[in-house]
Amino acid sequence: MRQYSRAAVAALAATTAHAASLSDVCTVSNVQSALPSNGTLLGIDLIPSAVTANTVTDASAGMGSSATYDYCNVTIAYTHTGKGDKVVVKYAFPAPSDFENRFYVAGGGGFSLSSDATGGLEYGAASGATDAGYDAFSYSYDEVVLYGNGSINWDATYMFGYQALGEMTKIGKPLTQGFYGLSSDQKIYTYYEGCSDGGREGMSQVQRWGDEYDGVIAGAPAFRFAQQQVNHVFPATIEHTMDYYPPPCELDKIVTETISACDPLDGRTDGVVSRTDLCMLNFNLTSLIGTSYYCAAQNYTSLGFGFSKRQAEGSTTSYQPAQNGTITAEGVALAQAVYDGLHDSNGKRAYLSWQIAAELSDADTTYDSTTDSWTLDIPSTGGEYVTKFVQLLNIDNLSNLDNVTYDTLVDWMNTGMIRYIDSLQTTVVDLTEFQQSGGKMIHYHGESDPSIPTASSVHYWQGVRQAMYPDVSYNESLSQMSDWYQLYLVPGAAHCGTNSLQPGPYPEDNMEIMINWVENGVKPSRLNATVSSGTYEGETQMLCQWPSRPLWSSNTTFSCVYDQQSLNTWDYTFDAFKMPVF
Ligand SMILES: *[C@@H]1O[C@H](CO)[C@@H](O)[C@H](O)[C@H]1NC(C)=O
Ligand SMILES: *[C@@H]1O[C@H](CO)[C@@H](O)[C@H](O)[C@H]1NC(C)=O
Ligand SMILES: *[C@@H]1O[C@H](CO)[C@@H](O)[C@H](O)[C@H]1NC(C)=O
Ligand SMILES: *[C@@H]1O[C@H](CO)[C@@H](O)[C@H](O)[C@H]1NC(C)=O
Ligand SMILES: *[C@@H]1O[C@H](CO)[C@@H](O)[C@H](O)[C@H]1NC(C)=O
Ligand SMILES: *[C@@H]1O[C@H](CO)[C@@H](O)[C@H](O)[C@H]1NC(C)=O
Ligand SMILES: *[C@@H]1O[C@H](CO)[C@@H](O)[C@H](O)[C@H]1NC(C)=O
Ligand SMILES: *[C@@H]1O[C@H](CO)[C@@H](O)[C@H](O)[C@H]1NC(C)=O
Ligand SMILES: *[C@@H]1O[C@H](CO)[C@@H](O)[C@H](O)[C@H]1NC(C)=O
Ligand SMILES: *[C@@H]1O[C@H](CO)[C@@H](O)[C@H](O)[C@H]1NC(C)=O
Ligand SMILES: *[C@@H]1O[C@H](CO)[C@@H](O)[C@H](O)[C@H]1NC(C)=O
Repeated sequence: MRQYSRAAVAALAATTAHAASLSDVCTVSNVQSALPSNGTLLGIDLIPSAVTANTVTDASAGMGSSATYDYCNVTIAYTHTGKGDKVVVKYAFPAPSDFENRFYVAGGGGFSLSSDATGGLEYGAASGATDAGYDAFSYSYDEVVLYGNGSINWDATYMFGYQALGEMTKIGKPLTQGFYGLSSDQKIYTYYEGCSDGGREGMSQVQRWGDEYDGVIAGAPAFRFAQQQVNHVFPATIEHTMDYYPPPCELDKIVTETISACDPLDGRTDGVVSRTDLCMLNFNLTSLIGTSYYCAAQNYTSLGFGFSKRQAEGSTTSYQPAQNGTITAEGVALAQAVYDGLHDSNGKRAYLSWQIAAELSDADTTYDSTTDSWTLDIPSTGGEYVTKFVQLLNIDNLSNLDNVTYDTLVDWMNTGMIRYIDSLQTTVVDLTEFQQSGGKMIHYHGESDPSIPTASSVHYWQGVRQAMYPDVSYNESLSQMSDWYQLYLVPGAAHCGTNSLQPGPYPEDNMEIMINWVENGVKPSRLNATVSSGTYEGETQMLCQWPSRPLWSSNTTFSCVYDQQSLNTWDYTFDAFKMPVF
């Protein structure tokens, strides 16, 4: 029997547990008495003396929302049994009258876990954020991955990989029950939501802590980590190999002309390539050779982490002169090679790529005013991964691509995959524990994501389907899988957001849909998304669940059709590696 604090007992004694006020329960002693005792959670020893608690009133929470919340700001600390380390976790508990028996975990992005514990407040959920034992509130993981050259911080690697979030949830649920004076068999609905590395973190929880979560929303996951990170260097390697460094305006023109040409293929000319597969099958980039382009001089902001036109950390501003010319055969060959994806020198496929019509951001060059020419720019996303995670050198970026061939990229991917296969790679395809404990997952990905290839999500979905339904027909596996795991591609969308080049729909109420699925059994069949700009601003489009594909056939709405020839374009085998790649 759990021991409750005076405040919690008082709350229980009242007619409802929700009668207690926030200040009644937001005390150090209530939190201390709600901590799982040592020995309850295997390998985790909580440190009661480290607890802090204070009420916060009228705090704004949730990006873009003007609503304010009162909550209890709690910090706790724990150590791994016998290890002598210390992990600090902060939790935000809504006022008892606002609490709806929910726990919420938000994902981070890039090399950072989320450091904000207040994301659950708008859902009446307690939530948390962890310092992961490496002071993740102050440092990102890539800053601590090496103790020094050649020396990997494996503790930080596993904590970032999946362990820290899993432990935060494992502790957070009984802590939440105790905090509100609930019994330990009272259901706490547990949700996860994140995109990019936050999507990968969500997948890490589904793969490793499947029975802890009821509903997981994972966007554009940065999983298959080694291939994903090295792939950022692929376009620069093509340029270096071809010795062709295009003015960015030329590539931009290739992309916008491709969008114009492929937009109608889905049946509707709305500025959005809803069917990149039909674009791949029907459009030939060589038709663009000779098209003229022009871009005025500008002070250009290059964006960190491939967030397309959205601002991100690590962005820099540089001058670009006016660019006036025509699309060249080299420019088209480069774009085609990028979209074809990495192959080794024997022609064996190593990785998939961004969908045709996605921006070619990783191919961006830098203007050198001293030589008045466009030069190699190695994206730091990929460059840093290679130096720190593959070469194990404590430097931030590759300085050049001398002697780097396609085979070198394959070697880097292979080294990274094997070295971090059980920490960062995040491609376990057996999700039985999650599925059998009743978990539900919505997985989504922008179809024109220029940072994490859309096909990466399709490849994982396909891996799960094959691993979990080996004995039923294809169509039967689709039906069974959609009872708990649904994949949606978002037409035209970029990386974890809308795309200024394609004014398409974007899903905005995923949590409401997920809560309704988990708590009320309302299973979605299509995903609600809203167009936020352009001619069709405000239009609701119900997105098609993979593998069905959108087609504007009725002239009033997109239908979802089954198109085998299109689906075949999303199927990949990575035979450049000797191990299977999920
Ligand atoms: C649990 O173990 C930790 C670490 O050894 C210790 O600091 C803490 O006091 C223990 N908790 C209790 C309630 O004894
Ligand atoms: C939450 O508690 C921590 C630890 O006491 C403190 O550093 C932080 O400022 C508090 N946050 C708010 C919003 O009160
Ligand atoms: C595109 O057209 C060129 C030139 O006609 C041709 O060589 C190439 O094979 C075509 N590519 C595809 C994918 O059809
Ligand atoms: C770029 O910035 C510089 C310095 O602020 C300014 O002098 C110049 O006019 C700007 N150029 C353009 C094209 O905006
Ligand atoms: C671009 O170059 C062409 C050919 O030199 C010229 O006719 C045209 O006016 C230029 N466009 C602009 C906007 O400078
Ligand atoms: C990485 O290094 C390359 C080559 O020196 C350089 O072009 C690029 O700007 C660097 N990127 C960052 C983000 O520092
Ligand atoms: C780590 O290796 C890099 C690259 O060889 C070198 O520049 C740097 O000085 C080394 N750092 C230390 C602390 O030895
Ligand atoms: C590249 O290869 C050449 C020839 O094998 C060698 O001389 C050179 O040192 C290499 N450069 C680098 C940076 O490894
Ligand atoms: C699966 O169902 C689709 C229609 O929903 C049908 O077109 C397709 O032929 C079926 N596939 C198999 C292998 O039965
Ligand atoms: C779709 O989402 C929008 C924006 O969140 C919401 O206003 C609308 O009610 C939703 N529609 C459906 C059918 O769920
Ligand atoms: C499709 O709908 C539009 C707008 O309502 C209408 O103008 C057009 O004639 C319709 N086309 C067909 C083929 O029905």
